[in-house]
Amino acid sequence: MATSYPSELVQALTLRDGTRVVVRPIRPEDRQIEQEFVQRLSDESRYFRFMSALRELNEAMLSRFTQIDYDREMALIAVVSENGLETEIGVARYVVNADGVSCEFAVAVADAWQHRGVGSILIRNLVEVARARGLQVMEGIVLAGNHKMLGLMNALGFSIRSEPGDAGAKHVAKQLNASPAALPRTSASIAADVN
Ligand SMILES: CC(C)(COP(=O)(O)OP(=O)(O)OC[C@H]1O[C@@H](n2cnc3c(N)ncnc32)[C@H](O)[C@@H]1OP(=O)(O)O)[C@@H](O)C(=O)NCCC(=O)NCCS
Repeated sequence: MATSYPSELVQALTLRDGTRVVVRPIRPEDRQIEQEFVQRLSDESRYFRFMSALRELNEAMLSRFTQIDYDREMALIAVVSENGLETEIGVARYVVNADGVSCEFAVAVADAWQHRGVGSILIRNLVEVARARGLQVMEGIVLAGNHKMLGLMNALGFSIRSEPGDAGAKHVAKQLNASPAALPRTSASIAADVN
C-alpha cells in the first residue's frame, strides 16, 4: 500500500542541451508511461536493466513499479511534456534491503535520451533521497559488459568490485554519509554538476 506522495521531491530542471525535464517520484497513475518507457527501450538497454529478455512489464511488475511504498522504496522518473502529454525518459529506483540500512538500486534512460546527463541526475537525486532518509549504503549489480554504466558509476564515486563466483557481473556500491541539509538540491546546483 503506497504511503503519501513525497511531493517535496518533485523538481523541474533544465538539461545542458536546454531541454526542460521534471524529475519526480513515480505515482500509481504512471502505469502507462512506465510501460511505454520499457517497451521503447532497445533490446540492449532492456537487457542491461532487467538482465533478462523481457520485452514489457507484466501487470504484477507494473503494479510493483508504480504503486510503491515511499517509506521503503523510491522511484524517481524523469519526464518531458509536450502538448500536456508526459513522456517518461528515465527512471532510477531503490528498494531498502532487509537490513534496513542499505538499499539496492537500478536505473535506465531511454536510448534517445542517453548521454545528456539524465542518468547522472537521476542517480545523484536518488542518492540524496536515500541519504536524507538515513540509509548508509546504496548498492547494485551491473553486468560486466555494461561499460557505460560502469563508467558512470566510477564518475559518481561508486566502488566497483567483482561478484565472487560470477565473472559476468559487478557489484557497485556507494557509502552515503548522512548530511541532513542535502535535500532537495536546487536545479541550478544539479545542472552545474552535470555540465
Ligand atoms: C547507463 C545509463 C543509465 C546512463 O544514462 P545516461 O543518461 O546516458 O547517462 P549520463 O548522460 O548522465 O552519463 C553518461 C556520463 O557518464 C560519464 N561516463 C560514462 N562513461 C564513462 C566512463 N567510461 N568514464 C568516465 N565517465 C563516464 C560521462 O560523463 C558520460 O557523459 P557522456 O555520455 O556525455 O559521455 C544508460 O546508458 C542506460 O539506461 N543504459 C541501459 C540500462 C542500464 O544499463 N542500466 C544500468 C543497470 S541497473
